[in-house]
Amino acid sequence: MFHLIGGLFDPHALTAVQQAVAALEYEDGRRTAGAIAARVKSNAQAVKSPAREAVIARVQAALLAAPEFVSAARPKAFVRMLVSRYEGGQAYGTHVDDALMDGGRCDVSFTLFLTPPDAYEGGGLVVRDTAEDRLVRLGAGEVVVYPSDTLHRVEPVTAGTRYAVVGWVQSWLRDPRQRAILFDLDQAIAAEAARAGAETAEAEGAPLERLAQIRSNLLRMWAQ
Ligand code: NI
Repeated sequence: MFHLIGGLFDPHALTAVQQAVAALEYEDGRRTAGAIAARVKSNAQAVKSPAREAVIARVQAALLAAPEFVSAARPKAFVRMLVSRYEGGQAYGTHVDDALMDGGRCDVSFTLFLTPPDAYEGGGLVVRDTAEDRLVRLGAGEVVVYPSDTLHRVEPVTAGTRYAVVGWVQSWLRDPRQRAILFDLDQAIAAEAARAGAETAEAEGAPLERLAQIRSNLLRMWAQ
């Protein structure tokens, strides 16, 4: 399942993240790619530094504060996060992300776009679905969340510079179908809660409590 999520940062915070990212030091991105992916990878990634860790911590906190992200990914751990930069024709050809990184399993991938789309050309994230290629090119501060088992690529950036934070999450639910079911259930519970409004649902077995019980018990059964 794909999720496009905006509103992670207010304008002031977004500007601060953009400025911090542009000021980082970068190195060849092939360093962190697996042997097969490295053959098609051409970009730069921020060198580890306190400033980079501050950006990553800020993005991680913003994601965890976004209900749709938490509902879609059910994050158990952030396995790895990177700050990437593409310019001068750089691209990342079709590849699949590693299943395991830094001792964690990658279930869910995300890309947080940081550069306004009119400030560069190309640079779309293209994710291969079973039936079609899906092009994702978002506004600054918007994030796409998608399953880590997909083939995907980043189109050449032919003008300007494209900054993004990319990352991988180990989910409590390794099966994307289970994540989709619980995402739908979250939506149903939110709708029912809004509908019930101020009504006091004290009666035992009220729909909202029953739905919450089912959600809790599915998570208990499936979480790993
Ligand atoms: Ni990738």
